[in-house]
This record gives sequence, structure tokens and C-alpha cells, in this order.
Amino acid sequence: ASILVLNGPNLNLLGTREPGVYGTATLDQIVQQLRDQATGQGHHLLSLQSNAEHELIERIHAARDEAIDFIIINPAAFTHTSVAIRDALLAVSIPFIEVHLSNVYKREPFRRHSYFSDVAVGVICGLGAKGYQLALDAALHHIDQTEQ
Ligand code: DQA
Repeated sequence: ASILVLNGPNLNLLGTREPGVYGTATLDQIVQQLRDQATGQGHHLLSLQSNAEHELIERIHAARDEAIDFIIINPAAFTHTSVAIRDALLAVSIPFIEVHLSNVYKREPFRRHSYFSDVAVGVICGLGAKGYQLALDAALHHIDQTEQ
């Protein structure tokens, strides 16, 4: 199967960005680990980080033509603002899991609302980089179940 991992704004700074909140792993380390996890099980993993909403939207549109089976997305601050990215995911109807490194419910009240959670297969938050690994595991399980 093909899995696309999308990361939104400021996540390119992981490793140095508020390490007390987001941990010390860089995004490259996180994605490399996911790629190893996917390829080790015979799957294919693609990834994009962007600070620009339109680039994430265009990547989601392209995913349909590429027959991407599943998306793992940390929309970062766009979680709380982007009807447009939500609509793009619904438009291509590719199932997705929403991931947040931090526990958004422990933080400012504006982080409690997500434009994605009610249309996601599932949501993982507060488990740091491990959350992406758990999301990939769940995505592969979901693909297995729906193929049968
Ligand atoms: C985040 C949580 C968001 O509220 C924040 O804007 C981010 C990262 C997380 O991974 O914890 O940039 O999505």
C-alpha cells in the first residue's frame, strides 16, 4: 500500500521548536523511522512538510491520482483554522488519521477545536513522535481490514 505523511506549518523546525512541548526528534528522523517501518512491511511511504496551505491542498489532490491508500496528517496550526484542507481530504475521500505531538487538550483553549477530527478515521495526540508510529500501525491495519 502507499501511505502519504503530511506535516503542516512550523513542523520543519522540530528538534529545536519548543522541545519541552514537541520533543527533540527532528522531522527527518521521524519520517525516516516511518519509512523504515513501512518498507519493512512491504509498503511505500511518501511525505511532505509545508508551511503553505495551498501546497498541502495540492498534495492531497495529487494523492488521488497516485492511488494513495491512506494519509497520516499533522495539520499543525491549520488544524484549528483550515476548512480548505478539511474539504480537500473529503474531496479525494482518502481515509486519514490526525496526529498531534502535543496533548492539545492540555494547552490553550483554541487548540481544542479541530476541523479534522470529526471526519478522521482516528486522532492521536500527546504521545510525541511515537504518535506517528502508532498512526502508521493503525493505518496499515485499516488498509488490511478494508481490503478483505
Ligand atoms: C500540533 C498542535 C497544534 O496546536 C500546533 O499549532 C502545532 C503542532 C502538535 O503536533 O502538537 O503546530 O499539531
